[in-house]
Amino acid sequence: VLLSAGIGITPMIAMLNGLLVNGNRTRHRHPIYFIHGARNRREHAFAAHLQTMAAGHRNLSVHVRYSDEAAPFDSDITNWQGSAGRIDIDLLRELLPFGDYDFYLCGPASFMQQMYDGLRGLNIADVRIRFEAFGPASVRRDTCAEKPAIETRPAATAQNSTTAVAVQFTRSGVTAQWDGSHANLLALAEANGIPAESSCRNGQCGACAVALTSGEVRYIRECDAHAGAGEVLMCSAVPAAGVESITLDL
Ligand code: FES
Repeated sequence: VLLSAGIGITPMIAMLNGLLVNGNRTRHRHPIYFIHGARNRREHAFAAHLQTMAAGHRNLSVHVRYSDEAAPFDSDITNWQGSAGRIDIDLLRELLPFGDYDFYLCGPASFMQQMYDGLRGLNIADVRIRFEAFGPASVRRDTCAEKPAIETRPAATAQNSTTAVAVQFTRSGVTAQWDGSHANLLALAEANGIPAESSCRNGQCGACAVALTSGEVRYIRECDAHAGAGEVLMCSAVPAAGVESITLDL
């Protein structure tokens, strides 16, 4: 669920683009809910782009809410809805069918705190709520009794691997040598001309996830995005120390 208000739509559009491209590539088209609040139609950035995306992707549901207009922004696109007012938890309850979601928030500080508190109030786990802040905006997290997200990652070793590691990109038919000179596996793929999906490049969006079919990696940062079982976030991973080779389904 991508949830934004005002100018907070900017990173959400980048994430949406990455998710849709990745879904087309992997054919795993997860349901995406894009919920955005703006004052009115004139101040709704990326409105035309969002409509195009909604019209072309049935796994995407868009809801736009305008606070300064009595009438909602409707469209004849079936997976596009509009309403008047401000985004609140009641709207989310109404829009989201019973299910298991990851939430990404971006907008003014008060909006994000309200959404975060409301989602936590619905027992959404802290690790399932990610946000991006502009400027000094920040959200006070309520992480009582929850383990740090890093503990859910694949087993990590203590040191970076700088010895040569053969990295096999099976779909591309390329085997590259990891020698520690690239920042991460995504950079290695790109340096070898392998097209790889990415968006945030810092572990926030999940667009760079690919299946790790052999070997072991370690993460160089704590990631908000969750890779699926057996997957690795290439933008934030390097070969684990001691492995001689790894294989990625890319
Ligand atoms: S590019 Fe966003 S998590 Fe890797």
